[in-house]
Amino acid sequence: MSKKAWGGRFSDELDAVAARVNTSVDVDQRLGPEDVRGSVAHVRMLASRGIVSAEDAARIEAGLLQIEDEIRDGSMVWRADREDVHMNVEALLTERIGEVGGRLHTARSRNDQVATDMRLWTREACARTAAKIDRLLAVLARRAEGTVEVVMPGYTHLQRAQPVRLAHHLLAWCEMLERDRGRLDDAARRMNESPLGSAALAGTTFPLDREQTARALGFERPMRNSLDAVSDRDFLLEALSALSICAVHLSRIGEELVLWSAQEFGFIEMSDRFTTGSSIMPQKKNPDMAELVRGKSARVIGDLVSLLVLMKGLPLAYNRDMQEDKRPTFDAFDTVEDCLEVLTGALATATFSPERMRAALVEGFVEATEVADWLAARAVPFREAHHVAGRLVRLCVERRTTLPSLSLEDFRSAHPAFDESIFEAIEPEVAIERRSVLGGPARGQVRAQIEALASRLAARGVEVEPSSDRPEAG
Ligand code: ARG
Repeated sequence: MSKKAWGGRFSDELDAVAARVNTSVDVDQRLGPEDVRGSVAHVRMLASRGIVSAEDAARIEAGLLQIEDEIRDGSMVWRADREDVHMNVEALLTERIGEVGGRLHTARSRNDQVATDMRLWTREACARTAAKIDRLLAVLARRAEGTVEVVMPGYTHLQRAQPVRLAHHLLAWCEMLERDRGRLDDAARRMNESPLGSAALAGTTFPLDREQTARALGFERPMRNSLDAVSDRDFLLEALSALSICAVHLSRIGEELVLWSAQEFGFIEMSDRFTTGSSIMPQKKNPDMAELVRGKSARVIGDLVSLLVLMKGLPLAYNRDMQEDKRPTFDAFDTVEDCLEVLTGALATATFSPERMRAALVEGFVEATEVADWLAARAVPFREAHHVAGRLVRLCVERRTTLPSLSLEDFRSAHPAFDESIFEAIEPEVAIERRSVLGGPARGQVRAQIEALASRLAARGVEVEPSSDRPEAG
């Protein structure tokens, strides 16, 4: 590694293994476009403050823009011996335009430079991920629209509990995902401040205009404290926390898709494009994408933990440890974005089985709450009503039958208040429709939720396509 970049102090070359540990360009070259953007804003500001001449600034900017083109078209040759993205861009610039390139780094340090690059990159990544969440939401809204009439058991403890609509279940996923989106938005908003001008840690003697660079880079304002600006990575911790929560949500959705795909449930069949076979068992069609989404959440959580542990003991201000912030950050975004895309495709093309879902309501006594509510609505104290319904369930278990198959006499033997209307009350469709409380599974509630979601999406420029699910299904 040439010591030229660090100047006169060094005479010996860096040890080979030290050079390997030192270099980060294999990872941080992803910051190339952000690095150029930051440098262009910086040099323009230097010129407007008369710190470099307009002519030098123009040559530097032209050189930077050419490098940016090469970064974007992939022709840029990244050199590991130039350590990191910042040194690569600067060294190449100086190689191209000569000594004047060296003026770019006036009143700047790689410390405020990398903090700026990471904020720019992560702000963009949050927006990109949020847009992918929206596309998944749009698919879920479309599937919900088409499955309002599909009824299924809702579960607690993975035991059939009460009947709901499939659309209601899909909308629950939407709520989870929309909060994830909100968390990414919040993180992006809070990180949107400019470290540039903080230099190494203590600002600079040059009369910089930090407002100008902040504005040029789309930041809300310059960061208030130069020590803080170069030394905290809480903005990454926030983004990765939001991503981890999102990954956990995707994992839970993945788990439900795995369960629903199992023959024991048979609620869903994933399309061939999102399933794989077995190398030994010819009958297998495995829900690998759902399993991988579940599995990859471990990676994202690991990325967050890496970053938390990386930061926990660091004194102010910049420490070189922080170079290790990039791999987990990039990995967390890449992983969540892939998971979002693959789930979007898998859910867009999966086939639901309304028949299997309806059939799952027959066993499991999901009508028991209805029986208790029926009595409670007729002045029987709920605790007693609960007890009566429990006795009826036990009777069914003993006779190996279901609640709707009991006779009115059976019901009356458990409590004299029962009349014929109990049989209608315990029909799943009727039970669901009576749950018209706000947020409940009744048709009107579910339809209103789908509409509200679709209009929130429309406000963000995302259309919900018309459903192709059978409307009469179920
Ligand atoms: N590659 C470094 C990083 O990512 C850039 C900052 C280097 N600063 C320094 N003082 N060596 O953290």
